[in-house]
Amino acid sequence: MATPRRVEGKVALVVGAASGIGRATAIVLAKNGAIVWCSDRNVDGPAETAAAIGGKSALLDVTREADWETVIRAVLKEHGRLDVLVNSAGINFACPVAEMSLEDWRRVMQVNLDGIFLGTKHAVRAMRASGGSIVNVSSAAGLKSAPGASAYSTSKAAVCMFSRTAAKECADAGLAIRINTVCPGGVKTPLWRQVAFFQELMSKTGSEEAAFQAMLAGSPPGSRFAEPEEIAHAILFLASDESRFVTGSDLVIDGGFRA
Ligand code: NAI
Repeated sequence: MATPRRVEGKVALVVGAASGIGRATAIVLAKNGAIVWCSDRNVDGPAETAAAIGGKSALLDVTREADWETVIRAVLKEHGRLDVLVNSAGINFACPVAEMSLEDWRRVMQVNLDGIFLGTKHAVRAMRASGGSIVNVSSAAGLKSAPGASAYSTSKAAVCMFSRTAAKECADAGLAIRINTVCPGGVKTPLWRQVAFFQELMSKTGSEEAAFQAMLAGSPPGSRFAEPEEIAHAILFLASDESRFVTGSDLVIDGGFRA
């Protein structure tokens, strides 16, 4: 018997689809029957993901409200509705508080938090009539302090609170729009290459894989980084009608690290 496709016919916009968790999510949603639009801040990355899954691609910088309006308008024009938004765009940044510039702080907030606000705002507008599911990618670092990465962890904590509040607003207004976050622990993606300590580990150990292993030093036996697909499958659940009673929640996916 064929495996049931869990988001058959749903129209999904995945942002941050050029890489890592976003790319894996676009693939998993497409395999499960969704019509997937892949967006990212550059042209080639999302186009490559879209080509791999027979989806569409569109340029979208999450910090630019006009980009959100343009892309969502294009989705509505073509399909008449938007059922799922997955916002996986994000940047990593590590710097001690006393050394951090206001520009760096604002850059992190712009992408990781303003981007989530703008995406949620325009997806809610698009989903008002027929309902939908919004999945915002936060982080376990938004639930527990991450010394050395205060801007990143603060942006992610705000993503959780913003998403919960927006979810409650929608529910209270009687809208069939669900909004949830996923909060992954460490995931093996290029995101880590953006921080100096990981670059140093890579040059010390000779490979990215060895750098991930080195980061686990001192962790309990069995600890590991997640594969992007493991996060994508949790997002698939939140995108699908199987999670129809789940809204305003933060789904932690960290192999029990925080438990
Ligand atoms: P990644 O670097 O592989 O993918 C992030 C994507 O976001 C990239 O394709 C990048 O081009 C895109 N992006 C960045 N700024 C953008 C902008 N202004 N507009 C549109 N797209 C933009 O990283 P990964 O790991 O897949 O990250 C996805 C999300 O997961 C991020 O929000 C990240 O904070 C979060 N996360 C990642 C974890 C990890 O260990 N990799 C752990 C917990 C959360």
